[in-house]
Amino acid sequence: MNTRFNGVIGERYSQIHRVLPFLDNLLSLVSKQVQDYCCDLSRPYSILEIGSGTGLLTEKLLSVTLKYNTKIVALDHSTSMIRQSNCDSENLSIVECDALSFLECSQTCSFNIVVSSLTIHNNTAPYRKRLLHQIYRTLNVNGLFINADLYALPEPLHHTKIKDKIKHLFNIFSEDRELLMEWVVHEFEDYSPERIMREDNAVNEMSDIGFSDILIMERFDVWAVLKAMKL
Ligand SMILES: C[S@@+](CC[C@H](N)C(=O)[O-])C[C@H]1O[C@@H](n2cnc3c(N)ncnc32)[C@H](O)[C@@H]1O
Repeated sequence: MNTRFNGVIGERYSQIHRVLPFLDNLLSLVSKQVQDYCCDLSRPYSILEIGSGTGLLTEKLLSVTLKYNTKIVALDHSTSMIRQSNCDSENLSIVECDALSFLECSQTCSFNIVVSSLTIHNNTAPYRKRLLHQIYRTLNVNGLFINADLYALPEPLHHTKIKDKIKHLFNIFSEDRELLMEWVVHEFEDYSPERIMREDNAVNEMSDIGFSDILIMERFDVWAVLKAMKL
């Protein structure tokens, strides 16, 4: 499938740690939430990971399966990203497909946890709305949704942050014009009118859909870890 990660950014996705130096902390916070939720040793948990990519978050989630009875389905629509994943476990199924199509075919109340990192903002606003409806429908009652994503701040703060981010890209990729150009273009596309995901709009939209206890747990620059429940 032709996706935003089939080009140079996807081929050299390991560079993401230079683009987002806080990424490991952000992903650890997400997996800690999952681990805290799966605290009952006597019951099974089903986890859906949306946009697993090269497996950076999946790897951390797999450590939860070592202690608790959890099964993970990790999906992604990019062949080249999935190919770079080394994650392997009897408790993990990796599925190559579009997230919305997968969820539309899933039964109501299928998952205890839906988790995602750096993924949902890559989709247009109408797509995201449909996706969030499906996430809500397919979560069990008392289910957890946890998403580490690009939740844009109000202006003019957001604009200032983006200027800093473009400068940062020029600093780290000054020797690599191809990658620099792709990242800068990718940034601009993230903030295009059809794609930009503002924190306040996202929270209101989720609340309208029915999510409860919506909380921005921690901010990492323009990125944030959001947690919500289906009660
Ligand atoms: C920036 S990468 C993040 C990968 C991984 N979660 C991480 O934290 O490193 C975004 C991933 O989401 C996938 N993706 C984006 N939108 C998707 C969708 N609608 N359905 C399936 N995969 C999607 C992309 O192919 C890409 O692999």
